Amino acid sequence: MSKTFYITTPIYYTSGNLHIGHAYTTVICDAIARYKKMRGYDVFYLTGTDEHGQKVQQKALQANKTPKQFVDELVNGIKELWSNLKIDYNHFIRTTDDYHVETVQKVFSKLIEQGDIYKGVYEGWYCTPCEAFFTESQLDENHNCPDCGRPVHKAQEDAYFFKMSKYADKLIKYYEEHPEFVEPESRKNEMINSFLKPGLEDLCVSRTSFDWGVKVKEDPKHVVYVWIDALTNYISALGYTQENDDLFKKFWHNDENHEILHIVGKEIVRFHVIYWPIILLALDLPLPTKIFAHGWIIMKDGKMGKSKGNVVEPNVLINRYGLDALRYYLTNAIPLGNDGLFTPELFIEKVNTDLANNLGNLLSRTVSMVIKYFDGVVPTYNGTLNEIDENLEKDAKKFINRYEEHFDKYEVDEASSAVFDYLSRANKYIDESQPWVLAKDESKREELASVMTHLVLALYQSAIMLQPFLVETPSKIFEQLGASTPNYEDLRNLNAVDGLNVVKGTPLFPRLEIEKEIEYIQSNMPSK
Ligand code: ME8
Ligand code: MG
Repeated sequence: MSKTFYITTPIYYTSGNLHIGHAYTTVICDAIARYKKMRGYDVFYLTGTDEHGQKVQQKALQANKTPKQFVDELVNGIKELWSNLKIDYNHFIRTTDDYHVETVQKVFSKLIEQGDIYKGVYEGWYCTPCEAFFTESQLDENHNCPDCGRPVHKAQEDAYFFKMSKYADKLIKYYEEHPEFVEPESRKNEMINSFLKPGLEDLCVSRTSFDWGVKVKEDPKHVVYVWIDALTNYISALGYTQENDDLFKKFWHNDENHEILHIVGKEIVRFHVIYWPIILLALDLPLPTKIFAHGWIIMKDGKMGKSKGNVVEPNVLINRYGLDALRYYLTNAIPLGNDGLFTPELFIEKVNTDLANNLGNLLSRTVSMVIKYFDGVVPTYNGTLNEIDENLEKDAKKFINRYEEHFDKYEVDEASSAVFDYLSRANKYIDESQPWVLAKDESKREELASVMTHLVLALYQSAIMLQPFLVETPSKIFEQLGASTPNYEDLRNLNAVDGLNVVKGTPLFPRLEIEKEIEYIQSNMPSK
């Protein structure tokens, strides 16, 4: 029986078009999901949309549409974007889906019955854009929203409350016993110190100030707080509380054979490491294996954001440079857990240096040499003939191990770098072994053959490892190498390329004119 792996993105708000920040999370999860599949796991990859709440209702009104019309249109665009990026998700959940609404209601009712949710009066500081109430002490130094820095206003309403404090000790204990639960570690400490240790206040979990949400079944003038609604998606998508709950039974476990991974941006860690586990504790369900918080894509003027207007639209980059150029940037350029800068300069530079030169040139040079020196047939692997070969092989093993070690820890950017470092190393190997010199000396025929085999192997192995990141390029590489689609085990088979017939193809990534492309990207960013 294979091990299961359940991976989720946050479900994105349907309040505007998505930008490369959202694409970042989704592509990272896609790479991890593809890697796990390649390693033989039974993977379920979930993404979707968070469609309820006051902000959506307001936006729909401004656009002269019903909320449902409004979100339907946005969801079409989002699904199209994921299809353009070849996101291989198993299910797309919408919080307006009937089964989800029903599950949220059932969860809410159960928590009322258990006495975990009770009715009272709420007064607090409310941030409308974030749809969140804050206590006095949570506000920032300017008395503004601690999440977005915008003004908050005092608000009061009849409301349902969740007795968070009842589960606080259990949660703290869980953290202590599961040091791997929240990553990076710095985020975990921040959560424990600023939220858990000072003591959890009961959480207000219903609203009456708007009605675009899941109605509380017992009391329909209240709608369920959008975060309770949203977080529940991770289990409703699997069929929790529904007649057919096969997926839930299969994937919602956390033990050595079953893993649950939520990847989220750092600004929503609090909801995922406090509210979500407490809901699960109250429902007596296993907690996820890991919540991994990644950083933000930032622009020169700060975090890229819909409300700030400094966004880069993924489709602009995909249409002009191909989906693999964007997938490469998102999975390689930003250290997971940290913020990463996006500038058109950096993007174009990376495409040129890493994809066009390091990868693309290596392939076309190698294929040309195999054609020129061996009529296009890759010589049979013959061990290492000299120190130059030996050193390359030693390094190749290290790169492959490094790739797996990092990927197993979800360090996507490091895993990607291991492959591109291998490609750089293979380029250096050409300089060291100087095949054009060997070719002039008939007595060096065997050494020349060995260089060709090692180069083809490097490309072949790299292409296998690139499959989670790049979805069109690896098959183009296999095609030019004359290889059929490999299994993962072929990664360590040194005879895998023996006798292949290489074929000259078009360049994988044409070199871009830097100035011209910077201008192109800039002219396609909505100005504000
Ligand atoms: O928070 N850089 O939805 P959301 C990197 N509906 N990632 C970014 C980013 C940026 N500049 N901007 C957005 C919500 N993201 C809730 C989630 S989950 C139960 C409910 C990514 O549309 C990042 O993953 O605001 C962030 O957490 C997510 O989009 C927030 O999307
Ligand atoms: Mg947001």
